[in-house]
Amino acid sequence: RTIYTAGRPPWYNEHGTQSKEAFAIGLGGGSASGKTTVARMIIEALDVPWVVLLSMDSFYKQEQAAHNNFNFDHPDAFDFDLIISTLKKLKQGKSVKVPIYDFTTHSRKKDWKTLYGANVIIFEGIMAFADKTLLELLDMKIFVDTDSDIRLVRRLRRDISERGRDIEGVIKQYNKFVKPSFDQYIQPTMRLADIVVPRGSGNTVAIDLIVQHVHSQLEERKLRWDMAALASAHQCHPL
Ligand code: C5P
Repeated sequence: RTIYTAGRPPWYNEHGTQSKEAFAIGLGGGSASGKTTVARMIIEALDVPWVVLLSMDSFYKQEQAAHNNFNFDHPDAFDFDLIISTLKKLKQGKSVKVPIYDFTTHSRKKDWKTLYGANVIIFEGIMAFADKTLLELLDMKIFVDTDSDIRLVRRLRRDISERGRDIEGVIKQYNKFVKPSFDQYIQPTMRLADIVVPRGSGNTVAIDLIVQHVHSQLEERKLRWDMAALASAHQCHPL
């Protein structure tokens, strides 16, 4: 998955105090719902410098690596502590190192990748809204709601062509873990979202609206930080 970074915005003023905070978007939804495609479309339409895409896949716990029959669709499969500390740092404009996950071996690769502080962070994953502390870090929550038959067909194609699986294995895993976990852990988080996007990436109207909102939030924040900087320069109370 591509990382969209191109340098580092000025996060700290000459006194070393933080001068802004990134806008964090959470993107949840079932497996193969089109989360990554929606994220890419948002990034493209946003057209702002320094947007970073953080994927939950990077945070699968390592110790389950060898398990063939493991439930990768359970909240316990993810390292939420690492996700939270990573997101906190990124929001403060700090660079982070994140693990790279290999779906063919079910384990982390040796190398880690570096992500740099950005104006906008898009955090995507099936359990994006499954943790209370994590939810509080997200400034906007989007749920991609794609029909389960479409998700299954996409997942079959993707897992066979990209993740080294066979048809029987994908169907078995889907019935045993993916579908029940979607019903139990993922679908119920839809009510926590600010926006639900039916059909995923095909919904260009929803993507336009999301982009408009992010733009207006960035403007508003910039104004707020600028005012605060001005106030502190004049040693009066920030607004
Ligand atoms: O990209 P997507 O959001 O679909 O990735 C999440 C899915 O990856 C989960 O539904 C999980 O079943 C699957 N997965 C897997 N094998 C792993 C790790 C995750 O099939 N080793």
